[in-house]
Amino acid sequence: MSTALIFGGSGKVARHLTTKLVASSYTVHSIIRKESQIPELEALGSKPIVQSIEDSSVNDLTATIKKYSPNVVIWSAGAGGGSPERTKAVDHEGAVKVFDATAAAGVKRFVIVSAVDIRDRENKPAPEWYIPDDTAVSDRMWGAIGVYCQAKLAADRDLVTQNDRRKLDYTIVRPGSLNTDRGSGTVAAGKVHLGKSISREDVAEVIVRCIEDPSTIGLAFDVVGGDTPISEAVKEVGSKKIDTFAGRY
Ligand SMILES: NC(=O)c1ccc[n+]([C@@H]2O[C@H](COP(=O)([O-])OP(=O)(O)OC[C@H]3O[C@@H](n4cnc5c(N)ncnc54)[C@H](OP(=O)(O)O)[C@@H]3O)[C@@H](O)[C@H]2O)c1
Repeated sequence: MSTALIFGGSGKVARHLTTKLVASSYTVHSIIRKESQIPELEALGSKPIVQSIEDSSVNDLTATIKKYSPNVVIWSAGAGGGSPERTKAVDHEGAVKVFDATAAAGVKRFVIVSAVDIRDRENKPAPEWYIPDDTAVSDRMWGAIGVYCQAKLAADRDLVTQNDRRKLDYTIVRPGSLNTDRGSGTVAAGKVHLGKSISREDVAEVIVRCIEDPSTIGLAFDVVGGDTPISEAVKEVGSKKIDTFAGRY
């Protein structure tokens, strides 16, 4: 039986992911911040662990990961548009601590939820498939939540550029804006246009597919609402080695 450990385990994507992994006979451990969330997580079949990412050192996080010895670690945490300080402490520094802790604990497989259009907009060319509508979405996103985008960029850049040292088998899933619709089972993945939102349940299914598809290791890809069955969309990204972050950090 496989074991997964989810940082941000009480989050909305993570809850869908928990349900799906439990249904696939995974043991799921969820890192959460609030004891009050324990019953809800247990009801989903998870084994919650109360530990704040912000308040934990790399050594603390390494000890937790070692203790539960998961086959895969998933990052689906986020400060959720809190203060700039919390955004940096969770979305950037918290993520980097977890990259280091995962590597130190000897776990290889790592899936992180990032976001579409996370890139170095100042120094690198815009994606060549962007049309004016994409540029408009990008301008709005970076104008509204630039601190969050910078924190995500710093984390993803660290994950990719420091991987010679950490040697994680990572996949970076980059969803568009998230909605709470029921999962449709279909998405558009890879080099996509930015306008369409995606349901959190579909993002969770994309993560499950990535965990089970080693061809996605080392890739970062965008995913938004669309018409391609999720397993097919993820398989295509993996087989064509589509990476939407490469060359843009
Ligand atoms: N919102 C969007 O449109 C959008 C778009 C693209 C990507 N994303 C990314 O997608 C991911 C999942 O999104 P979501 O909607 O599921 O987010 P969410 O519901 O806000 O979940 C994030 C979780 O992170 C937890 N967290 C925050 N700080 C923590 C800490 N110090 N220690 C432990 N846990 C902590 C939160 O715990 P509490 O419950 O205790 O607050 C929350 O449960 C996030 O990484 C987000 O940045 C979001």
